[in-house]
Amino acid sequence: MMKKYFLLIIGCCTCLATFAQSAKTVAIIPEPVKTVVKKGQFVLPKQISIAAGSIKSMAEVTRFLKNKLETATGAKVKISNSQVATIKLAFLKKADATLGYEGYHLYVTKQGVSIKANSAAGLFYGAQTFLQLLPKQIESKELVKHVNWVAPFVDVIDYPRFGWRGLMLDVSRHFFTKNEVMEYIDQMAAYKFNILHMHLTDDEGWRIEIKSLPRLTTVGAYNVKKIGQFGNFSAPTPDEPRNYGGFYTQEDIKELVKYASERFINIMPEIDVPGHSLAAIVSYPELSVTAAANTYQVHSGERLSVDNTLNPSSEKTYAFLDKVLTEVAQLFPFGYVHMGGDECTKEYWAKSDSVTALMKKENLKNYEEVQSYFEKRLETIVESKGKKFMGWDEIIEGGLGPNAAVMSWRGIKGGIIAAKLGHQVVMSPTTYAYLDYMQSDRITEPHVYASLRLNKTYQFDPIPDSVDAKLILGGQANLWTEQVYNFRQVEYMTWPRAMAIAEDVWSPKEKKSWKSFFPKVENHFERLNEAEIKYSPAVYDPSFEAKINADNKLEVELSTEVTGLDIYYSFDNSFPDRFYPKYTEPLVVPKDASQLRIITYKGKQPIGRMLTMPISELQHRADARKRGN
Ligand code: ACM
Repeated sequence: MMKKYFLLIIGCCTCLATFAQSAKTVAIIPEPVKTVVKKGQFVLPKQISIAAGSIKSMAEVTRFLKNKLETATGAKVKISNSQVATIKLAFLKKADATLGYEGYHLYVTKQGVSIKANSAAGLFYGAQTFLQLLPKQIESKELVKHVNWVAPFVDVIDYPRFGWRGLMLDVSRHFFTKNEVMEYIDQMAAYKFNILHMHLTDDEGWRIEIKSLPRLTTVGAYNVKKIGQFGNFSAPTPDEPRNYGGFYTQEDIKELVKYASERFINIMPEIDVPGHSLAAIVSYPELSVTAAANTYQVHSGERLSVDNTLNPSSEKTYAFLDKVLTEVAQLFPFGYVHMGGDECTKEYWAKSDSVTALMKKENLKNYEEVQSYFEKRLETIVESKGKKFMGWDEIIEGGLGPNAAVMSWRGIKGGIIAAKLGHQVVMSPTTYAYLDYMQSDRITEPHVYASLRLNKTYQFDPIPDSVDAKLILGGQANLWTEQVYNFRQVEYMTWPRAMAIAEDVWSPKEKKSWKSFFPKVENHFERLNEAEIKYSPAVYDPSFEAKINADNKLEVELSTEVTGLDIYYSFDNSFPDRFYPKYTEPLVVPKDASQLRIITYKGKQPIGRMLTMPISELQHRADARKRGN
């Protein structure tokens, strides 16, 4: 009798321990609508079968799962029609309106894994969630031995808050190869993003082959390789080779579109006009109002101000755009083409007799109306190719075209105005969603003019109170790449902030919580380590607040966006560890100190980077604060 009770107690303890362990390891990003973690776990067999019926559209999901499971676990994965499979994928017999196009049910039970959805996209997202339930080693790109390949028993019901869940990659300022873009697509898909906005043209390079306009890529795709701080480079000299950059052939684009669509991602092309058009103007100088345009060269990041705008008063411009759009529209199946429209300087138009004549003829009162005239004509061209027109929020300024969709980047203001006018909107404000911004203090990061920390990206809500939510298609984060010179830095800038964005655009608002989100991010750091994807550890870096205190002394306050960290510091130029003074309150800087070094720990583990803050920088910030700027 006693023995029986004893065994029962042991049994319960084991069960609870397993449950506690599995509950702890459930770290799904983006957070699903509903997750119930149950007692017990499913052990992946050595021979895995995936049953997906014979429905063709499921082939992408099964191929994806097979590839992922075979790579890391070494198991043999068989695709079958059997009812007794390890993983069963099925369309719901009766469509479930709540799940919509991209939602899914995922059940992990003693019998195996079952994913049900209305569409293949839903099954794909269910598969992504399932992979996040498996040990982190599933992310490895090679076989990992001695792993207990288990997934906790769960019931998940999930569907996205928004249909537009985008990331923008600027492939113009720096070019990223087709394979790198494919890698980016894989990384996006893991976090259930469904739109890759490719910023294909800018002053630094035209990146898409247009067969009827070959100079766009023979001339416009190359500049001079410079190293250092973009924007401050020396002017290229004639002996510096103009061979840096590249472009996607139309075959490349087709491959990318197919690759993305197999991962349920649409690619939206952006052709940025009428500003940011130097690469096009260098290729075809007749597109500019400025006579000297025929001496221009593709921008290489030098300090330079030239006319990078298309001539809105010339029919040549519209003929050019018609040719570009004919080919672009055929290459990208996605409904929208983004035509830029941002930051178009008007100073060169103001010097042009031809633009003045246009203003007179069309009764345009100012240069914003000139841009609006241009955008409306462009909208007609885009629509004539069977596409919908989207632009940055500057296109609102002189009056929006009839069907224009707006991507709001200068905060959400433009998005609110556009939605109030009944236009569709995607929110991608600098305040929450600019991935080119620094993630930590500027003493450690490549310098960009603003910062955006992880916790701020997590506060992004694409729907403002005052507008019809139906007009807000969703949200997007943008990675501009002036200061991003290689693909490892693309990853560093994207992760973990895009995890926060993923949750902003997928998860129900009421399910979002920074407190529960951040431990999941740390779990995913380990997964990214397995995948050898780079991410920024900046979230562990403290913020510095410098001021002149009441005793007229320089004082510095440190704070972290994450709790449970200890900061150790030195003013004596040596490298602090956890046996150094621990930060507990604002520090008065010793009179002769030249630098403050700090490092953050989690218990005994150093977790942040060693940061070295010059005292002169603190003094400068404190002085600026005193002056009120
Ligand atoms: C932008 O950031 N110029 C759209």
